[in-house]
Amino acid sequence: MESLTIIQPDDWHLHLRDGEALKAVLPHTVRQFARAIAMPNLQPPVRNLADATAYRDRILAALPHSATFEPLMTLYLTDNTSPDDIVAASESGFVKAVKYYPAGATTNSDSGVTDISKCDVVFKAMESVDLPLLLHGEVTDRHVDIFDRERAFIENYLIDLRSKFPKLRIVLEHVTTSDSVEFVLSSDNTAATITPQHLLLNRTSIFQGGLRPHFYCLPILKRETHREALLEAATSGNPKFFLGTDSAPHARNRKESFCGCAGCYSALHAMELYAEAFESVNALDKLEAFASFHGPDFYKLPRNTGTITLTKQSWTIPRELPFPDSPLVPLRAGEDIEWKVTEGRV
Ligand code: NCD
Ligand code: ZN
Repeated sequence: MESLTIIQPDDWHLHLRDGEALKAVLPHTVRQFARAIAMPNLQPPVRNLADATAYRDRILAALPHSATFEPLMTLYLTDNTSPDDIVAASESGFVKAVKYYPAGATTNSDSGVTDISKCDVVFKAMESVDLPLLLHGEVTDRHVDIFDRERAFIENYLIDLRSKFPKLRIVLEHVTTSDSVEFVLSSDNTAATITPQHLLLNRTSIFQGGLRPHFYCLPILKRETHREALLEAATSGNPKFFLGTDSAPHARNRKESFCGCAGCYSALHAMELYAEAFESVNALDKLEAFASFHGPDFYKLPRNTGTITLTKQSWTIPRELPFPDSPLVPLRAGEDIEWKVTEGRV
């Protein structure tokens, strides 16, 4: 296949940051995606409708001229989130989900939930107004091996949560293991996003010829058998799996550091990376549904109507991009990639 035209995709898990960083990364997303679920892990986080309204306004103000893009807002669940916060957010029409981070799990998650069992009244409210719950599904217990933290979350918390609130729509975000794929397949009202890095790389990639800080994200890349299970799920045509880049920009000096931040930057070339992953298993015909249909269907939103075109055309991913303070290094910087978004929102 030399070119592929698909309905405009959306990114169902994206870190847009704020201020100058937001201005640096937003055009990359807008180039490919019509909408994106904007993660709420700012400092301080987006905790209520007032925060979400103000953040949405800042995103819209940062849009390139004439760009049409719809930020889909999320609230950051804390120990203090109330059912009233949920109802107000849901009535706004533009808050589309609530994000759960276990306290300390990842970048800017210090305000996260310390005890999930205390969130029952909030989950009940979400279930009754039908507002989806997005999970960073990892335990934070430092005695649990980092490669086992997703599976432990399913076993210790998610099975219970799923059965307690059967109608609550849950997205297990950025799944990284076959355990998660199996859980999602066997659970009603449950879906998952999958990132490009987890489809293309495995944990050995982090150590390929030396330590590769730009392949460090959370949940951490897993072994090859898990990557294969994710690729199979993404390309299966099953509507429970859809695109969410988890593009998470951090300046080079924060990544290449004594204690480097977690996050891969893929907003620049997300669709090209997904195309490469799907092509690797001869499943380009499944890309459109994964990128453009399953997400809006799960979120009960209309599908987009415009199109984008990907063309088989080799180009080199830049070594770095402009970013405040220190440059931003995109995923697989300096390497060639065989697909290019050539038409649509370019
Ligand atoms: C994200 C970030 O930097 O905000 N990092 C990451 O590795 N994915 C946080 C997150 O989604 O875990
Ligand atoms: Zn994320």
